[in-house]
Amino acid sequence: MRTTKDIQDEIMRLKKEKDFCILVHAYQAHSIVEIADFTGDSYGLSVQASKVPNKNVIMCGVRFMAETVKVLSPDKTVYLANPNAGCPMADQIDIPILKGLQEKYPGYETVAYINTSTELKTICDTIVTSSSADKIIGNIENDKILFVPDPNLGGWIAKRHPNKDFKFFQGGCPTHMRITKDEVDEAKSAHPDALFLVHPECRAEVVELADYVGSTTGIMDYAKKSDAKEFIIGTEASIVEHLQYECPDKMFYPLSVGLICHNMKMTTLVDVLNTMNGTGGEEITLSDDVIKGAKKSIDRMIALGG
Ligand code: 13P
Ligand code: SF4
Repeated sequence: MRTTKDIQDEIMRLKKEKDFCILVHAYQAHSIVEIADFTGDSYGLSVQASKVPNKNVIMCGVRFMAETVKVLSPDKTVYLANPNAGCPMADQIDIPILKGLQEKYPGYETVAYINTSTELKTICDTIVTSSSADKIIGNIENDKILFVPDPNLGGWIAKRHPNKDFKFFQGGCPTHMRITKDEVDEAKSAHPDALFLVHPECRAEVVELADYVGSTTGIMDYAKKSDAKEFIIGTEASIVEHLQYECPDKMFYPLSVGLICHNMKMTTLVDVLNTMNGTGGEEITLSDDVIKGAKKSIDRMIALGG
């Protein structure tokens, strides 16, 4: 039987032989993080995507992430390691719905979370991620913001920019939205000395109880640098696993057993190997018009967030 190590070694060999770069979102399994050229949050992955030196790129994450790589590096051959991995939040809003909101709120700047389809991005002004939204909204001159599709991230940002008028679409991440205030209370009484770190995709009543609010990378950096020894992690379970590897002297507790993104968990190490061997994965193709249209709003994110 092949072991995890056998497959990882084969992937490392093929990376050099076939000139592959492997980009890995922080919600992937630790065995996949170990073979990554870059692991990070959605903003970090986008910045990396625009400067990849390799001919071929594999995204281990969900579909909109692979499409963002293609938009930023259209001359590269870009693959999504598991073609079934999508983001349910990205499917919540389409072009007709957004056009309806834009007609309802004329004069508002359309700011979309990166967790949206590439087609939708063609009619947005600016894209944001959880780690860049605060800075980007601060850099936007327009004080009227139409924020889609996540009202939890949008509401958290709106509180930090009280001078701006926000309108929201009522979408959201099914994984993070499941978390309740009662679960936070339970976790805090089970671990009274632990700091509570949370992702802004959680509901406001959950985010309000946090010691730190940030992206996946933000949460990991905070835990690594903190003098505290115990942490309740209010985001997808894989972050608990990565932190256990990186900080053996600290304790990490998942906020809830429900904090699993099943789409992020679809990709396996063997999917990555099969993609490299041409027997798996999906090559991302987008029309020139979609690439051109989406690139404007994604470039604006990188310019305003950098
Ligand atoms: P970040 O890694 O940017 O925090 O995003 C979290 C997420 O839910 C990605 O789908
Ligand atoms: Fe989408 Fe939520 Fe999964 Fe991220 S965690 S990919 S936002 S469903």
